[in-house]
Amino acid sequence: MMKQTDLGGKVVYQIYVKSFQDSNGDGIGDLPGLTSRLDYLAGLGVDYLWLTPIYPSPQRDNGYDVADYCAIDPCYGTMEDFETLCREGEKRGIRIMLDMVFNHTSTAHAWFRRALAGEKKYQDYYIWRDGGPDAPPTNWVSKFGGSAWQYSPEVGKYYLHLFDVTQADLNWDNPDLREELFAVLDFWAGKGVRAFRFDVVNLISKPGTMTDDDKGDGRRFYTDGPRIHEYLRMLNERGFGKYENVVTVGEMSSTSLDNCVGYTRPDRHELSMVFSFHHLKTDYKNGDKWALEENRFGELKKLLTDWQLGMQAGGGWNALFWCNHDQPRIVSRFGDEGQYRVRSAKMLATAIHCLRGTPYIYQGEELGMTNAHFTDIRQYQDVESRNYYNILRGQGLTEAETYKVLGARSRDNGRTPMQWTAGENAGFTTGTPWLGVNPNHDAINAQAALADGDSVLAYYRRLVALRKQSELVQAGEFAPLLAEDERVFGYTRTLNGRTLVVLCNFYGADAPVALPQALCAGAKPILSNIQKRDLTPAMTLAPYEAGVWEV
Ligand code: GLC
Ligand code: CA
Repeated sequence: MMKQTDLGGKVVYQIYVKSFQDSNGDGIGDLPGLTSRLDYLAGLGVDYLWLTPIYPSPQRDNGYDVADYCAIDPCYGTMEDFETLCREGEKRGIRIMLDMVFNHTSTAHAWFRRALAGEKKYQDYYIWRDGGPDAPPTNWVSKFGGSAWQYSPEVGKYYLHLFDVTQADLNWDNPDLREELFAVLDFWAGKGVRAFRFDVVNLISKPGTMTDDDKGDGRRFYTDGPRIHEYLRMLNERGFGKYENVVTVGEMSSTSLDNCVGYTRPDRHELSMVFSFHHLKTDYKNGDKWALEENRFGELKKLLTDWQLGMQAGGGWNALFWCNHDQPRIVSRFGDEGQYRVRSAKMLATAIHCLRGTPYIYQGEELGMTNAHFTDIRQYQDVESRNYYNILRGQGLTEAETYKVLGARSRDNGRTPMQWTAGENAGFTTGTPWLGVNPNHDAINAQAALADGDSVLAYYRRLVALRKQSELVQAGEFAPLLAEDERVFGYTRTLNGRTLVVLCNFYGADAPVALPQALCAGAKPILSNIQKRDLTPAMTLAPYEAGVWEV
């Protein structure tokens, strides 16, 4: 596996393939389209492209319902197209990170079909329990709404699906199933792939006995489950760990800091790094994604700080991110998508990119792309959004209230097509896009950003370049600064007697700060989202101002 000292110098760019670039006018992004945009990505300076699933799939959950782990869905292209992408990427110093969805398969997968046809071997690849006609085995709730159990008349039992009803959970306690999954890694490693993202991988170990959850939706029984560390070590030792310099990242749902240290401490031979999500729930009301509340900045700041300190002390490693295909756009969320869009997008980028860990950029984030603001349920494509539209209406929310929630929380906010130009369909497709293009592409697009030295894109390039050249960013020790400040997220990174100072004002109002004299003396401005200026003991940060200094 790649060493942490090297991970600190890498940047990953996430591609939601379906929405990145269409090449044949069917309205769906594809691999040849992506290959045609490699120069843009090389210009940004990124090292890896994490591709969301490109395998054959009924697309109920946009490819996270995999029907075959070792092929390419025709809507994305062919295996040859994939090989071309890898080759062309490599020429530009860019490698591919594949998304491995090993918690579940689509019910269209041959294993599940054979299970339904009565083959015991394949039945045991999934998780079955007895229950009555209207009495599922437990009261667990699917992450997409409704029961987590579905009755199968063919088998006469219920199967578990933590996500959509067509995403059946795999039984990792079965050694044959595990070997099949490890072989999938060999298949892709055979094509030269050396980086993997593992989807909701901390949910793969289920308890043997399953009981009702009287305190929640069941997640406390299967999150970071009983054999999880053992399974991740196997995944490493029998799977990807056989190859040189592999990079892995696990998506950890509702996890704990302690477990994440365990998942990523190098001597435990599990994963390189983890995505955790606590910092993206500080605008949920009582933990409920579908209940709106103002962001609790103090909590956000504390979570970012605690995870930096905790992972550092334990020898673990964080994936750093604000955005992905499951999250609304960060500038609409923790920034200001109006007057201060450009400035707040740069501030948010600064906050993340100078931390200890490996940063991820999600397509369009580097343009400051915003939420979609759809106003009609027919504009939404996401299975989760559609389910919750009905659930929220059922709870008595009016149509307008429901759209307000979806407008802020739907995963489709982050999935609208990449905005390349001000032209038709933002240059994404010549056909009808599978999901509506944001009308603001007339102003927010890559072409305009490339021509503007002050664009959000230009600033992301600088941040990526800073990481490449600065040992402080790659390896400096993290410490909080201005921990009690109610508007500013500040921190330092220290190495060999040198210090990097980072200040980010998260509010659209002035923020006066008091800094230690010793920190300011001789501090050199490195980066600013407004204008470089000196660091002084008493200074006032402008609305959404961010700055980086080196002492
Ligand atoms: C992860 C993916 C998400 C998907 C889910 C089920 O959270 O990021 O898009 O719906 O897993 O596979
Ligand atoms: Ca296409």
